[in-house]
Amino acid sequence: MDRRTFLTMSGAGALVAAGGAVFAQGAAQPLRVIPMTDLVDGIDGRIPLSLSPGTHDFGNGVASETFGINQSYLGPVIRAKQGQTLPFDVANNIGDVSTIHWHGLHIPGAVDGGPHQEIEPGSVWSPDVPIVQHASMNWFHSHTHGKTARQTYNGLAGVLLIEDEASLDADLPKTYGVDDFVVVLQDKMFDGSGRMTYALTGEVFEDGFQGDTLVINGAIAPARQTVPTGLVRLRILNACNARFLELSMETGPITVIAADGGFLASPVEADSIVMSPGERYEVLVDMGATSSNALTVNLEGDGDGGFFAGLFGGAQATTALTLSRTDETGFGGSMPSQLATLDPPRPAEATVTRSFELQMDVGADLAALALAWENFCGDAGAMAINGLPMNMDRIDETVAKGDTEIWRISVDNQLHPFHIHGCSFRILSQNGAAPPAYAQGWKDMVHVEDGWSEVLVRFDHDAPADAPYMYHCHILEHEDCGMMGQFTVG
Ligand code: C2O
Ligand code: CU
Ligand code: CU
Repeated sequence: MDRRTFLTMSGAGALVAAGGAVFAQGAAQPLRVIPMTDLVDGIDGRIPLSLSPGTHDFGNGVASETFGINQSYLGPVIRAKQGQTLPFDVANNIGDVSTIHWHGLHIPGAVDGGPHQEIEPGSVWSPDVPIVQHASMNWFHSHTHGKTARQTYNGLAGVLLIEDEASLDADLPKTYGVDDFVVVLQDKMFDGSGRMTYALTGEVFEDGFQGDTLVINGAIAPARQTVPTGLVRLRILNACNARFLELSMETGPITVIAADGGFLASPVEADSIVMSPGERYEVLVDMGATSSNALTVNLEGDGDGGFFAGLFGGAQATTALTLSRTDETGFGGSMPSQLATLDPPRPAEATVTRSFELQMDVGADLAALALAWENFCGDAGAMAINGLPMNMDRIDETVAKGDTEIWRISVDNQLHPFHIHGCSFRILSQNGAAPPAYAQGWKDMVHVEDGWSEVLVRFDHDAPADAPYMYHCHILEHEDCGMMGQFTVG
């Protein structure tokens, strides 16, 4: 389909042609607060997660076929504390093989939930997941070989918040659903009857699947929420399959306090931030300063979203979530000046440099694969890293535990979000330049477009050959199509 003639669906369910690629917009609905499984005060027995098919109303009154984890779409927000071990029982009831990967966690390969830890239909996977890292926003999603894109799109994803002593004591808003909100952003496509759809074509493989409708916490945007006066915290995840999002506030700058792997040294104000699929940022909104403000989302990803800017020229920022202040007093504190101690990265400590070239086209017929409804391109791999499409039986890199390394990632075209399992890293350069200030903290995602992106990384946990870690493009169709590799740590 030509992206410039997208059909967008109004809240009432009618189809309207949209000239530009503007997200479909209806009347604002109350923000859906995702149920939280709060483990911070203790864990009682094992933690069941049931992957199941279901039907879900995205707010248009139509039942869409979805997957969910303990609910009809997406999973619960799990909140845990550093030092705990999470005894999950992940039951696969979707009728197809699946996996659940803990994205962002510093855990051994054996419990990482990548493509080697398959859960057969009808069976239960019971990893004990140790939480050793600091406060951070992480997530979990399907990582099934060749099926990650469709299973995640259908709803196999959830948020995993880690707190530590310092974050629990910190002078920050932390009353969930009152002044502290999880915001899961996704783009979806709905058909003429209002059902969520996912369709593959050769072009979808190339760009990754992109919907025309913004969905927040499983409901079509925009959303609205009343909040007490004072600071409000939004913990934001871009859970799109492929779409970069540019976020800003309707009034004033956007104030970022944390990136993928934890708090920044101090709050960073920006006009806007660009979030790739897989990235997380926490922001603070000062609802003492204004009685109403809104999070806005732009498809374009100005700044480093050149690929998308070309496709979506003229796109407007869309109101995603409007916050309106009540008279109640909420979090009483003021904007913190310091959040964490964050030393500058020391690339001189690196003893190994590895290079990764992400490759879009190594020969397979994408249109034919799409027709065959086959995400994984096999050894004919359409996409690759360093010339080789992902192969479950091949270890691509062998890393020594505890070594500091520089990973240099380049591309032959397009903008790609690169992710590494089992670690948080620091970005040394992104698209040939220093990363924006809000991306200078702990990360597990880096954008790669022009020139090199370089990260400084160290792995502290074991990943043996039968349970290796992955590195890959987080455009999920690219990952499924072979733009992924495997490495051991030991
Ligand atoms: Cu978000 Cu390898 O995954
Ligand atoms: Cu991951
Ligand atoms: Cu990619």
